[in-house]
Amino acid sequence: MRYNKEFFDLQIRFAQTVAALIDMPIEKALLDYTNIYVRFGLGRAFDQHHPIWRCYADGLSQSVDLCDWTYGFYLARAEVTQTRSTVATSGCFSYAIHNAECVRIHFENVEPATVSPLSIDRLPVRREELRSLFDHVRRNQREATRVAGTSWLYNLRSYRRCFPDEYSASVKVAESRFRNMSLWGQFLDRHGAVRVGVAENFTRRLSHIANLKDLVCSFPLQALAVEAPIEQFYRFYRV
Ligand SMILES: CC(C)(COP(=O)(O)OP(=O)(O)OC[C@H]1O[C@@H](n2cnc3c(N)ncnc32)[C@H](O)[C@@H]1OP(=O)(O)O)[C@@H](O)C(=O)NCCC(=O)NCCS
Repeated sequence: MRYNKEFFDLQIRFAQTVAALIDMPIEKALLDYTNIYVRFGLGRAFDQHHPIWRCYADGLSQSVDLCDWTYGFYLARAEVTQTRSTVATSGCFSYAIHNAECVRIHFENVEPATVSPLSIDRLPVRREELRSLFDHVRRNQREATRVAGTSWLYNLRSYRRCFPDEYSASVKVAESRFRNMSLWGQFLDRHGAVRVGVAENFTRRLSHIANLKDLVCSFPLQALAVEAPIEQFYRFYRV
């Protein structure tokens, strides 16, 4: 999915707030407090010396408009394959292996945009995608014993109902997710556009931030971590 410029503008605004608050260079704030490195398709090492990141960071000081420079850079990188280590994909869901024993679930909307992928009408489709995904896991990941996920999406009943109750009920707040879609994804709608009202409230809160704790609280929803034994998934999806 190609994301709108406003999604990057919002993250840059956040990075500028962080930079001013803790007296950090803007380049470092963009690396540590936004999802931009990942959106450039550079993986998850967050290496400030990565040659492509260097090219972007060096251009920051020469650019007239930081937001224009960032979005132009993203568009030029947009065809680059994302490097997430996905093992298999089924519709909106995919999984990666965290270590041999733990399967991690990811979500990305791939539905035609007329209807929310999380609507009750699409629930049977989502569950069937997960059934197929866990069928793949069962046949190919013999050592897997646990399933884990981290996302703002676990705040939503419409997302949690796709999964076994025990998994959804295990939620704990996941801290320091500033670099991840598991936090920033809440500002997007199903078209990849920024949700205007949510973003405006967020920006308003940023202008009143006085300390580090306020940074976390400025996000309407927190990223939540969930985890459960894999047997519960095999039972729930009947695979
Ligand atoms: C999930 C996603 C498809 C929802 O977008 P959408 O379909 O346009 O959202 P809708 O406005 O139709 O809302 C669908 C449901 O989610 C809720 N919702 C969606 N975004 C929300 C937000 N930011 N805050 C609160 N609720 C939200 C709606 O209230 C609605 O719930 P309901 O059915 O109980 O009324 C979209 O946010 C998205 O693709 N986000 C990026 C995905 C992501 O974060 N991936 C990384 C996961 S780690």
